[in-house]
Amino acid sequence: MILVTGGTGLVGSHLLVHLSFQNEPIRAIYRSTSSLEKVKKVFLSYTNDATFFEKIEWFLADITDVPSMIPAFFGVKQVYHCAAFISFNPKDYREMRKINIHGTAIVVNLAIDAKVEKFCYVSSIAAVGESLTNDMITEENEWNKELDNSGYSITKFGAEMEVWRASQEGIPVIVVNPGVILGSGFWDSGSGKLFSQIYNGFQFYTDGITGFVSVKDVVKAMILLMKSELKNERFILVSENKSFKEVFFSIADAFGLKRPARKIIYWQTEVFWRIAWLISKITQKDPLISKYSARSAHHISYYSSDKIKKILNFEFENIENIVQEMVSKYPKNKELLNIF
Ligand SMILES: NC(=O)c1ccc[n+]([C@@H]2O[C@H](COP(=O)([O-])OP(=O)(O)OC[C@H]3O[C@@H](n4cnc5c(N)ncnc54)[C@H](OP(=O)(O)O)[C@@H]3O)[C@@H](O)[C@H]2O)c1
Repeated sequence: MILVTGGTGLVGSHLLVHLSFQNEPIRAIYRSTSSLEKVKKVFLSYTNDATFFEKIEWFLADITDVPSMIPAFFGVKQVYHCAAFISFNPKDYREMRKINIHGTAIVVNLAIDAKVEKFCYVSSIAAVGESLTNDMITEENEWNKELDNSGYSITKFGAEMEVWRASQEGIPVIVVNPGVILGSGFWDSGSGKLFSQIYNGFQFYTDGITGFVSVKDVVKAMILLMKSELKNERFILVSENKSFKEVFFSIADAFGLKRPARKIIYWQTEVFWRIAWLISKITQKDPLISKYSARSAHHISYYSSDKIKKILNFEFENIENIVQEMVSKYPKNKELLNIF
């Protein structure tokens, strides 16, 4: 039995599709039936055959709630831990610690108890250290707690530490560190939101550079690594390092829309996030932009995926093709947003 956490999210839902094409029984954690509708749509984007979705045993549980999680581990041999809370809003920091670090500790403890054969954790490039020399960042770069890290980055690093603890307890572990993940089905969050914003006329861009990867490559790599003899290793998953400008322009071109015309420079976002913070304090609403999302828009980092390319001969899809594919699946009727 394979257990998947976060099966109703971007990575988890695409992972479930690929796992369902194989023969192992699969159990997936969910928190609400409404989120299952999105997963069904992701399955439909791959196949019209409903039997693949029906192969999944859905299990109602919360990773931060031990009693709900204990029965989920019955008969489990492999775990894919994809559940997490992603936010750059400082007010979410405590909740992120609870879900990402404490929740992962619970999943890890239960996996150790169940003596699972292998454990895969979806970490992030946010949990990999910066390069001090502007060289390519590799799996060897150590996370630096002295830097002004975002709450998300701190919790992903903390979660990884829990997963490495599992390896110390004898559980073979694989950690993947993807860049920004591009994939269809979730147009109101993560990279999907970028597509929605550009489709709706977003006019701004920055010159920050980071790593991008398709969700299909992420789940393909996870499955290959879990089937391999490799263990207790981390792998950066980045197809290409690109500027936000390049990616925004590709998205606009693929939609046949005008490219965002206004370049935003560093000091402008430094002003914006402070104003947004002040407004959020007055209105008690979420800020439009936070300090860390503002700064990451300008940050320049280059990531290397040479390790997985060399060890598994892994080939990544190029970003231009992924953008084209996502735009072809984008629901132009706004009412369908969030469903497809
Ligand atoms: N998206 C990216 O660009 C990106 C990049 C690098 C790394 N990652 C990592 O990849 C993993 C998956 O990300 P994603 O993009 O798929 O995120 P997502 O779409 O936001 O999905 C998050 C998943 O976690 C579940 N979850 C959250 N809190 C939970 C809890 N307390 N108990 C049980 N399930 C819970 C959510 O369930 P509900 O449906 O019930 O909310 C959802 O299934 C995360 O670890 C993330 O840090 C993502």
